[in-house]
Amino acid sequence: MESYTLFDVDTKAFVYGSQRVAVQRMLDFDYMCRRKEPSVAGMITPERGGFEKVFWGTREIMLPRYQSIKEAAASHPEADVMINFASERSAYDTTREALDIDTIRTVTVIAEGVPERHARILAALAKKNNKWIIGPATVGGIKAGAFKIGNAAGTPENIAECKLYRPGSVGFVSKSGGMSNECYNIIARNTDGVYEGVAIGGDLFPGSTLMDHLLRYEANPDIKMMVCLGEVGGIDEYTIAEAVKSKKLSKPVVIWITGTSATVMPKGVQFGHAGARADSALETAEAKNRALKEAGLIVPDSFDDFDIKIRETFDQLKKENKITPAAEIEPRKVPMDFKQAVSEGLVRRSTNFVSTICDDRGEEHSYAGVPITKVIEEKYGIGGVIGLLWFKKKMPVYVTEFIEIVLQVIADHGPAVAGAHNTIVTARAGKNLIESLIAGLATIGPRFGGALNGAAEHFTFGLRSGMSPREFVDHMRKNNVTIQGIGHRTHSIENPDARVELMIGYAKKHFREHPLLDYALKVQDVTTRKRGNLILNIDGLIGILFVDMMRNLGFTEKQIDEEIKIGVFNGFFILGRTMGFMGHFFDQQRLMQPLYRHPFDDILYEVPEKPEEVRLTGRGDEK
Ligand code: ACO
Ligand code: LMR
Repeated sequence: MESYTLFDVDTKAFVYGSQRVAVQRMLDFDYMCRRKEPSVAGMITPERGGFEKVFWGTREIMLPRYQSIKEAAASHPEADVMINFASERSAYDTTREALDIDTIRTVTVIAEGVPERHARILAALAKKNNKWIIGPATVGGIKAGAFKIGNAAGTPENIAECKLYRPGSVGFVSKSGGMSNECYNIIARNTDGVYEGVAIGGDLFPGSTLMDHLLRYEANPDIKMMVCLGEVGGIDEYTIAEAVKSKKLSKPVVIWITGTSATVMPKGVQFGHAGARADSALETAEAKNRALKEAGLIVPDSFDDFDIKIRETFDQLKKENKITPAAEIEPRKVPMDFKQAVSEGLVRRSTNFVSTICDDRGEEHSYAGVPITKVIEEKYGIGGVIGLLWFKKKMPVYVTEFIEIVLQVIADHGPAVAGAHNTIVTARAGKNLIESLIAGLATIGPRFGGALNGAAEHFTFGLRSGMSPREFVDHMRKNNVTIQGIGHRTHSIENPDARVELMIGYAKKHFREHPLLDYALKVQDVTTRKRGNLILNIDGLIGILFVDMMRNLGFTEKQIDEEIKIGVFNGFFILGRTMGFMGHFFDQQRLMQPLYRHPFDDILYEVPEKPEEVRLTGRGDEK
């Protein structure tokens, strides 16, 4: 590569910092220009390594992420550019480190606010090592059709508009990144386009100057004319005037120094850039424009005429046969991102998921259409939230209160019940909260805590079929079906379950009608006549009360059947008892209980002395 060339179609770069968008823009540019390979060799992100998924055209590819500059450079000795997105705090150290690596030749420093002392040290170091710095405080630059630095020149649409996907004949350099986009457009409209454009950044001590880049362009035979945009502040532009006078710069240079309005403002007005401030008459835009014009550069009367001067210069070169305008080519089309296409209404796609209970998009998420702040403000409570998320209904107060009572009474029934026991044993085996909870929850089923649903189904069937309670019990027995919700290990008619009494009291007081409860109590009269413990248990009671409640709320029989089918009733036991299982887990942890092993004397060992012999049948099973 010639010394005046910083980038070409094979340039490989590192992007320092987690700048996914900038990387994607670089790759989109590469793809548009039909580069053979992506220009980004890898990202350098100290916080994590691995890979980053990016698009190459329509395809997704993996870009490596390195955790240090050294590691990246060792893996990609072909990469000679580092685009440094480090903040102003670490830009100095990281740029220094990169400049010390043999294979890295150019570093672009994007950060604003790098201390001037640091910027000067970096510039000196780069010169000493025969390397280049673009920036600090820059967007970077672009070599048309070959290589783009980060976000320079904007989106694929801008690049297409400004014909930056193929080289023209104009070398461009400016201080400002924002204005460089404007100038790419002006140059594209008035010439055969930009060959290369660089924004050196708006600081007082840039790592490379306007002059440095103009000299590169002067040396490059493919560049026929140059366009430069300086700005108020500093005296660098006088070196350009000198270079033209001494013929160090011989190609036509169209130049304008922005900030001419500074003279109508009080002295020392600070423009956007750190360096854009005229502290002496020499530093004003007007003085510099005047000196440049006198030295023979092409200086318009105002920025409004910049385009005219550029066009005239280009046309003149054409007339003198010094320029063969670049041939037009068709850039490769960069696929539009799906998100953008959706927002523009260009594509549609069938969804994979449907959710009808909540919406988490937008500023505030909502449960069944009720914003979360309203849920709190209007005191929906746990019962209200369950109403919204399980049934998509704003439940009346007596229902939300009922749900909360259910959850409270069901929360725990001691360490001996099947589920709590399993949670405790699992916790004592050293398993964590989730695993111990799962062990407890997995115990819930048709014999323990999971009979709510079955009870709702069985009793609804009995009542609907018009069978008397007696006929219902006989029918179930005949069919060998255990009536769900009937029977308890410890509670009986003589030892009633206080939870059951309490819930019955609540229902009788608040439910307009409770036909299923009445039916179930009559069934209990029948079953307890056989055995005292065949009572309507807490599972059964809650299951049937929810059916009665749903009827009061206007659920149709079909809707009730649907709820039974999906198992919503068991959900109340599972939810409530989760509190208890967690409590048991925490309790065991605090008590630092050791592994539980069931005692031998609590197990009846009935093992045969020897196994039963299998009789051979003579049908080939002797083999
Ligand atoms: N319906 C009809 N008969 C029953 C029922 C029932 N639900 N439950 C027990 N029986 C009968 C049995 O058929 C057996 O009769 P048999 O002596 O003629 O053979 C007798 O009662 C004893 O049966 P066991 O299963 O030994 O009773 P146990 O007291 O051990 O069972 C249990 C208690 C598991 C709760 C049982 O009654 C049952 O399965 N009920 C249905 C499921 C249920 O509701 N579970 C929730 C319980 S509450 C909770 O876990 C929070
Ligand atoms: C419970 O609430 O867990 C109990 O009613 C079950 C039991 O075995 O006591």
